[in-house]
Amino acid sequence: MIVIGIETSCDDTSFAVVEDGYKIRANIISSQTIHSKYGGVVPELASREHIKNISYVFEKGMKAAKITLKDVDGIAVTNRPGLIVSLLVGLNFAKGLAYAGRIPLIGVNHTLGHIYSNHLSKSEPEFPYIGFILSGGHTILCKVHNYTTIEVIGTTRDDAIGEAFDKISKFMGFGYPGGPIIDKLSKSGNPNSIKFPRPRFKDKSLDFSYSGLKTAVLNYYRKNPDTSKADIAASFQKTAIDILIINLKRYLEKENVSRLSITGGVSANSYLRKTMTEFSKNNNIKLFIPSHELCTDNAAMIAGLGTRLLEEGKKDTLKLDAYSRGIK
Ligand code: KG4
Ligand code: ZN
Repeated sequence: MIVIGIETSCDDTSFAVVEDGYKIRANIISSQTIHSKYGGVVPELASREHIKNISYVFEKGMKAAKITLKDVDGIAVTNRPGLIVSLLVGLNFAKGLAYAGRIPLIGVNHTLGHIYSNHLSKSEPEFPYIGFILSGGHTILCKVHNYTTIEVIGTTRDDAIGEAFDKISKFMGFGYPGGPIIDKLSKSGNPNSIKFPRPRFKDKSLDFSYSGLKTAVLNYYRKNPDTSKADIAASFQKTAIDILIINLKRYLEKENVSRLSITGGVSANSYLRKTMTEFSKNNNIKLFIPSHELCTDNAAMIAGLGTRLLEEGKKDTLKLDAYSRGIK
């Protein structure tokens, strides 16, 4: 079964061709650089860039996979959550293709798509398993029961982890997205040089909070302009990842975990990958983490999950709408 995927939920225009839900025949990603100077994604600019790029990624992907619309069994498109003006570009493009080729259309949830990125391989995690979804919009620890059912164990009460990376980068005068910049800068810094606070909740919840850490880093930077930016970045990065580990350890005190999946843009972080690999090894946990290309927004994960939905008989009509919110 061949399903094509379209992803335009934020600032990456992506098109993919996936066979049988896991074989990636093409995964084209066009990342928008225009937002760098604004320190964050400007929705109107993002949608205009998607309009410019979408036919290009489509044609390039179809050519790379050596297929035509006649070979396509389904068209999977991200229709939630995301920036409405961005989502609508991909959704309308997908509708045009579905109408022209009389091909089933499947609306896919972007967040569940991220989880699926660890299933784009034959050595996928067996359900149920514990998953972290770490991106610019989410910090979720959850139990994944199947492709579309997740049980949230903890989520952020304020900023998402990726958002904290982006805001700190912007404040220190670097560009957007901040994650890769802070990651690189941290390599020359000392992660133990500055002690930043970890959130403490009065209740026993396994929720996260990144706004206190972000403010502490910004205040420190303001008050200590001569401190090395690399030390600040590395100390922030370590604390941000420690916060994840603290909650994971607390969960492990109550429940057995043998499989852990980490997905979303922040899972590309080199310090996180190293720390989580060590942690999993020491705790006898099998760790699943996607390749760099599949960590950040991509259409292969959308096409893959779309295949599973189609197999379950789930299809949408040309009335399919876009929604800015919703993790399910
Ligand atoms: O999943 P994603 O591409 O888009 C959303 O669904 O939000 O995640 C984007 C987020 C951004 O906040 C970006 O700064 C962060 O992922 N990110 C990273 C790294 N690469 C991307 N954060 C930390 N380290 C990285 N290497
Ligand atoms: Zn994403």
